[in-house]
Amino acid sequence: MKNKVSIVGAGMTGSTTAHWLAELEIADLVLVDIVEGMPQGKALDLQAAMPIIGKDVRIVGSNDYGATAGSDIIVITAGLPRKPGMSRDDLLVANAEIVRTATEQTIKHSPDVIYIVLTNPLDVMAYLTMKVARIEPHRVIGQAGILDSARMRAFVAMELDVSVENIHCYVLGGHGDDMVPLTHASNVAGIPLDEIMPPDRLDAIVERTRKGGGEIVSLLKKGSAYYAPSVAVTQMVEAILKDKHLIVPAAAFMRGEYGLQDIFFGAPVQLGREGVEKIYEYKLTESEKAALEKSARGVAENAAKLDI
Ligand code: NAI
Ligand code: 2OP
Repeated sequence: MKNKVSIVGAGMTGSTTAHWLAELEIADLVLVDIVEGMPQGKALDLQAAMPIIGKDVRIVGSNDYGATAGSDIIVITAGLPRKPGMSRDDLLVANAEIVRTATEQTIKHSPDVIYIVLTNPLDVMAYLTMKVARIEPHRVIGQAGILDSARMRAFVAMELDVSVENIHCYVLGGHGDDMVPLTHASNVAGIPLDEIMPPDRLDAIVERTRKGGGEIVSLLKKGSAYYAPSVAVTQMVEAILKDKHLIVPAAAFMRGEYGLQDIFFGAPVQLGREGVEKIYEYKLTESEKAALEKSARGVAENAAKLDI
């Protein structure tokens, strides 16, 4: 039987995720949105692209959550994106209601599903999804770390004029301006970043990574990034459906890792057919530990503002 991936929220990130996923030909796809006709139109357009790229993928658009029934994975992108000047946290209350509805309406049709959450503020929305769906923590993963780490990789590649394939970066923590780009664990062909780059250039890249989402919001003026976020989701979907045991930075439920409990937080997470298989811990410096604690406090404070 073919895999089925449903994407709730057929806006910029949702439809671009469908695009990347269709190219991989690893699942049939469903796009759901509240805007009448929009998910149907985008699905039909993408369906018509399949003969050109030679992919046998069925793509359905709907305003009815029933269309998601029997999904292996549900990607939640439904919500409001940031406007210039807004932080991800400004979206908290409005997006919580949307994510609550999306979760309630999907879990009843796909009780064994794995959720990948993108909606911001990401770490709290992943936590909300797990609570509302009442499912095991390993079945909910938040996407943020692949994106933040990829931004850092791109900035390092531009700075050093080295292939992105040689650059490995790891950004931990909450998906906010307090995220923690690791500078020693991140490396170029195995050489730690803090050994290969002068401190001022490295500091500039760390800062640009932290503000990477905001930089794009201010350029676009309407909406936020979508190419890199959606290919990040696609990498997670592929890792799960192919049971790859792939380790990626992503938001997972912490049960003592990094000294944290009861929050979703960005860490190296091993993904396979059951979702989160394992969370890895780095040996951190004292300043990295302090930065992670600060980031975790922000996530926990946000979660406390909601009635979860
Ligand atoms: P968008 O506005 O293009 O799409 C969101 C879609 O959700 C809209 O089409 C809207 O009609 C739909 N929607 C709203 N309520 C719904 C409901 N109850 N059921 C189904 N659909 C519903 O926004 P975009 O750019 O796709 O971003 C979506 C979310 O993802 C935002 O919260 C944004 O901040 C977040 N995001 C997170 C990233 C991450 O790395 N975690 C990266 C990029 C975006
Ligand atoms: C980003 O980092 C908006 O969270 C999104 O681009």
